[in-house]
Amino acid sequence: MHIRRKLLLPFSLLVACPAFGYSFAADQTTLTLSTVENATPLPNGLTLTVSGAAMQITALRPDVLRVRIGRGGALPEDASWAVLPAARTATSSVQQESNADSVGFSTTALHVTVDRHTATLRVTDLAGHLLQQDYRPVEYHGNSFRLYKQMQPDEHFFGLGDKVGPLDRRGMAFTDWNTDTFGYQESTDPIYKSIPFFISMSGGRAIGVLFDNTWRSSFDFGKELVDAYSFGAPDGPIDYYLFYGPTPKQVVETYAWLTGPSPLPPLWSLGFQQSRYSYESQARVMEIANRLRTDKIPADALYLDIDYQKNNRPFTVDTTRFPDFTGMIDELARKQFHVVAITDLHIAYLPDQGYAPFDTGMAGDHFVKNADGSLYIAEVWPGPAVFPDFTRQQSRAWWGTLYKDFYKEGVAGFWNDMNEPAIFKVATKTMPDTVQHRIDEPGFMSRTATHLEIHNVFGMQNTRGTYEGLLKLKPDQRPFVLTRASYAGGQRYSATWTGDNSSTWNHLRLTTPMLLNLGLSGFGMSGADVGGFAGTPQPDLLTKWIELATFQPIDRDHTAKGTADQEPWVHGPRQEEIRRRYINERYRLMPYLYTLAEEMSRTGVPIVRPLFLEFPAAAPDGHPIDLDAGGEYMFGPDLLIAPSPYPDELDAYDLQLPPGEWFDYWTGDKLDRTGHIISRDAEQPKLPAGAGQPIATPATAAPTPMPLLIKPTLEELPVYVRGGSIVPIQPLVQSTVETPKGPLTLRVYVGENCHGTLYQDDGISFAYRNNAYLRVESTCEIKNGELHIHIGEHQGTFQPWWKEIAVEVYGWRPAAKPTATANGKSLTPSVAKNTVTLTLPDTGKGLDLLLH
Ligand code: NOJ
Repeated sequence: MHIRRKLLLPFSLLVACPAFGYSFAADQTTLTLSTVENATPLPNGLTLTVSGAAMQITALRPDVLRVRIGRGGALPEDASWAVLPAARTATSSVQQESNADSVGFSTTALHVTVDRHTATLRVTDLAGHLLQQDYRPVEYHGNSFRLYKQMQPDEHFFGLGDKVGPLDRRGMAFTDWNTDTFGYQESTDPIYKSIPFFISMSGGRAIGVLFDNTWRSSFDFGKELVDAYSFGAPDGPIDYYLFYGPTPKQVVETYAWLTGPSPLPPLWSLGFQQSRYSYESQARVMEIANRLRTDKIPADALYLDIDYQKNNRPFTVDTTRFPDFTGMIDELARKQFHVVAITDLHIAYLPDQGYAPFDTGMAGDHFVKNADGSLYIAEVWPGPAVFPDFTRQQSRAWWGTLYKDFYKEGVAGFWNDMNEPAIFKVATKTMPDTVQHRIDEPGFMSRTATHLEIHNVFGMQNTRGTYEGLLKLKPDQRPFVLTRASYAGGQRYSATWTGDNSSTWNHLRLTTPMLLNLGLSGFGMSGADVGGFAGTPQPDLLTKWIELATFQPIDRDHTAKGTADQEPWVHGPRQEEIRRRYINERYRLMPYLYTLAEEMSRTGVPIVRPLFLEFPAAAPDGHPIDLDAGGEYMFGPDLLIAPSPYPDELDAYDLQLPPGEWFDYWTGDKLDRTGHIISRDAEQPKLPAGAGQPIATPATAAPTPMPLLIKPTLEELPVYVRGGSIVPIQPLVQSTVETPKGPLTLRVYVGENCHGTLYQDDGISFAYRNNAYLRVESTCEIKNGELHIHIGEHQGTFQPWWKEIAVEVYGWRPAAKPTATANGKSLTPSVAKNTVTLTLPDTGKGLDLLLH
């Protein structure tokens, strides 16, 4: 099909606009980019003129392409808030491939062609599998544009951050415009964050697309057209990155290469966190802290919401209600609590009243302005307020200095809320489009941009100012910043939560797909308000929520003003007992969780993962098995969490276990392929014929997911462990500051490709960068009817708390009198129920165990 260029007005009406760094049309002309007029090879790609527009396709790596288009004949400004300069400027050489019908090139991973007659772009892998194909030429209407891509019948879409709704985005459309959406529901869009990145999976192959445009972009995954997906924006650059897996995990890792992984968090931030809007006095904060300790509910963090401040003014303390703020922080530290204080970005407009954040901000010209140059003043919590110009490096640096006193006094973390930015008493809930933001930033042209361009990155730059400011104040302490709004790449500066959810069963259900998609979109350090923010949860709902949050990255109980108390002890001892049991379990699993956080900080692979990230080939036709698997997800590579897909119903539900062998996490029992327990013998294991041999997988086992029927109970959240994993567990503590007493336990779940990693460090500083960490890699293998377990020698110089390791083996039936050797010396293991345990000194030099 030859599509002709539709140019309704002559080129002379296209004007250069230096303010935006690229040329654009000043009117609403329609332009279809359908004719390749010129193509110039580059060592790393191709530059083209297409219907008068400039287009460039380059390879940053063999598997990563960047596509840029500028309507007026010049490419858009080469700058980005999201993509790291090192990735953006990376180049990979290509082989040009042109013929009469197309121009293009290939890398060692991809073929790229542009049809000379239609200017449509097609990308395949080297075997010719289609990865992405323009559905129609790029179309401009004035500055606005849309790119349509063919959608395959089996194509599914993930990512876009925590947009509400199902895990798979197919059949839905979304807008990126950071919005304060108290009480949002399943159909609400947009909400707080804009992360214009998605993963597409089709035919078992995954690609990633990062559409790096900060304006009000939008995405449509087959809602408008049954056979196409599209993305576009009302203005700004066409600048997108297309990258290939083929596995989804590789795509996630490449996204982290482009935008940076989230940093290693302080260990305490993985503990249980208790919050509410607001603990209104020092006495109440201490009451909560004391109750957590006397009730033996492990906890690490307490939050101070806006009411600790004087008249809601950021960086102040209401000394009537908090008479000894510093003393309180000290006392909490003695009780092993970290305090996170809210510090919203709206600075109270208080001229001549000695309010330092306002005075110093004015003196340094750090606030955003209206189009006429006057100060932009709008109402938020403190009343009239002004707003830092976070796209200026100097203004961010000034913002960072505001943390000096709190940080010195020992406040451990900071909460950047309301940074969409939220504005009261206006229908749009945010700043007018005309507000002026100065961009004064290395790597960017210095210019003034309107709020339309900056809105979606405003919250991200707020957290950047906070994070970098904290680092400057305490260079050897890992900052903890929690944000509500952000943009792609914002994970470099902050953790996040899903904003003002509700205390309903539906919101509990929505939490999982929101956190999974956030994790796929770079924000692996994330949580949802446990128990729900708006409203008061029924007792069972809070209990179920605490159970689920045990296996999510951030575990923070938080609720709105005016709701009933929501701490774990409300609703009486039976509920509290169950809740305590789960929070305890999170602390026992802390070595595993921290190891996941460290992996995430290197690779970008999130802590909670959809099943398809670990098992991309589980379904015979390559579709993501999550589509059949209700609310299931992976907590790291080894634990499968299986909440009911409809948590308020007591009906039994189907569980899909991916191929392989699985154990019940709570009992250690191994499941057979029909979901039945293989061994649940009490004290005296009954040894079947063939004892001493590995448990055989039934011959009928097919490489398909195994269904299992679950009968839900209040007490149990079903959790399964992958056969072939080695999970580190520690003795129970009341906070991450407390040193565990007793051995480190390694739970070995015998199965294929058996391995496990353990990572430790001081949990606070950056000393791990100078080798002060500990890493232990372990494996297990069955050879000639014997179980070999290898615990690797200690890597790194960090000295852990344990002197002994207890190795607990599941899925291995010992002989009547099991024997074992450790580094060649005989030992007698203890046998109980379905486990064999050996406890040994850990010399750090490595251990080789042999079980007969
Ligand atoms: C809105 C936030 O989403 C919520 O978590 C917080 O409690 C209130 N602001 C008050 O600061």
